[in-house]
Amino acid sequence: MDGVHVINHPLIQHKLTIIRDVNTGAKEFRELVEEVSMLMAYEVTRNFPVTEIEVETPIAKASGQMVSGKKIAIIPVLRAGLGMVSGILRLIPTAKVGHIGVYRDPETLNPIEYYCKLPFDLLERELIIVDPMLATGGSAAAAIQFLKQKGATQIRMVSLIAAPEGIKHVREKHPNVDIYVAAIDDRLNSHGYIVPGLGDAGDRLFGTK
Ligand code: PRP
Ligand code: URA
Repeated sequence: MDGVHVINHPLIQHKLTIIRDVNTGAKEFRELVEEVSMLMAYEVTRNFPVTEIEVETPIAKASGQMVSGKKIAIIPVLRAGLGMVSGILRLIPTAKVGHIGVYRDPETLNPIEYYCKLPFDLLERELIIVDPMLATGGSAAAAIQFLKQKGATQIRMVSLIAAPEGIKHVREKHPNVDIYVAAIDDRLNSHGYIVPGLGDAGDRLFGTK
């Protein structure tokens, strides 16, 4: 689908399979979410602009490339999005981090916003929203809408696993936001959980429940 990128790298798929496993404990789950996020960042930033510069090696002058253009902000959707931040920061250490708190009402599945703290220079930045799960798409669409209301235009959405319903919802509401995922699963169950998915990402990351 246009604007939807499934990152099908063997290392990412290998690690995602262990993440899905119900027998994977919180420590390994956290470490693998960090690693997969770092690997995904490689693809998410693939088309970032570069400029040519010259450096001195110990031997001679060399021309090389440096990432140029807009600065970057990573925006985790609390709480589970927090698990993806450190991996991306390892590749883009100069990125700033803004936080948006959204949880799903367990009855209605509607997104409820409860927190927001963003970099002061948000509009100068390329924004990468991170949340491991894109289920109904309500939380992602709400986070994107929130950033758009602040004037943001350059937004990408990165999740580990999406449901087809969530992808459709976000693409319909925000056709100019590209979505990057490691897998698109079969469907949602009656509680709005992704099948087969990985269960509740926040609970597995933080050992709650
Ligand atoms: C999870 C997940 C997403 C949301 C996805 O968060 O991290 O934010 O559900 O579902 P949706 O696509 O149907 O909106 P949750 O509401 O469980 O909050 P938590 O991260 O605090 O656990
Ligand atoms: N949130 C999760 O953490 N997991 C799902 O499968 C759906 C929403």
